[in-house]
Amino acid sequence: MFKNLLYNINGKVAIVTINRPDKMNALNSETLDELKSLFLRIKEDENIFVVIVTGSGERAFVAGADISELNKLDVISGKEFSEKGHEVFNLIEDLGKPVIAAVNGFALGGGCELALACHIRLASENAKFGQPEVNLGIIPGYGGTQRLTRLINTGRAAEIILTGTNFDANEAYRIGLVNKIFPQTELIAKAIDLATGIASKGQNAIRYSLKAIRRVNEISLQDGLNYEISLFALSCGTEDFKEGTKAFLEKRKPDFRNK
Ligand code: COA
Repeated sequence: MFKNLLYNINGKVAIVTINRPDKMNALNSETLDELKSLFLRIKEDENIFVVIVTGSGERAFVAGADISELNKLDVISGKEFSEKGHEVFNLIEDLGKPVIAAVNGFALGGGCELALACHIRLASENAKFGQPEVNLGIIPGYGGTQRLTRLINTGRAAEIILTGTNFDANEAYRIGLVNKIFPQTELIAKAIDLATGIASKGQNAIRYSLKAIRRVNEISLQDGLNYEISLFALSCGTEDFKEGTKAFLEKRKPDFRNK
């Protein structure tokens, strides 16, 4: 169905695999179009609660935007190129469902930026991260200057972006870029475990949590706290909330209907 993506479903969990292993899963324009169309579908699919994004093969998650396409850009087409990546990565970040990056190898440039647009990042021991754009005479154009700086801190993000130097999974963990590291052979199973755990919660609470977390970089602390109050109140109006608290008091597992 897709030329450059694989799509699998495991219970309530969708697994999106970028599948151009001979090109280190580099994101060409066609792959970005396919990602957009697949994520729009996932957004509307009531049977999918959590998404995992990974790369095909054992060497690369995504080794960046496709440099053979980059090479042809000028000021006008460069703007369109960057906007297209932003549109797809914003769609992922604002999907309304948790998206987990399972970084199974090189996550460079647009690959690191794809992982940054996800809500949680897991990495294999052999994963390598970096924003090598300055080596090509450009800057990160799929959100890296903004999302990396917000996720870690300004000084560290500046070092990564200004030196264009790659770093390994341990360093990514140390600076807070990834949540956990696993052996390559266990990565997808661990990502599915995590996703399945999240999928077992009341999905209104998951959605409201994502909304509240998403706003943190956009509004003042006081506005953020007020926003949390509104979403907390909304969550108190759900059937899941009644079920979750009742189940706790009755010492049983909740049976969430996501209503
Ligand atoms: N765009 C297009 N093609 C890419 C690519 C990219 N971002 N990254 C890798 N490839 C291609 C290579 O051109 C090569 O294709 P070929 O076999 O047709 O020549 C193939 O993938 C394998 O890559 P290769 O460089 O031979 O593998 P390696 O093991 O020596 O190095 C990397 C792996 C990831 C370190 C190296 O490919 C690399 O630095 N890629 C570019 C990373 C980058 O700058 N990304 C940011 C872009 S903004």
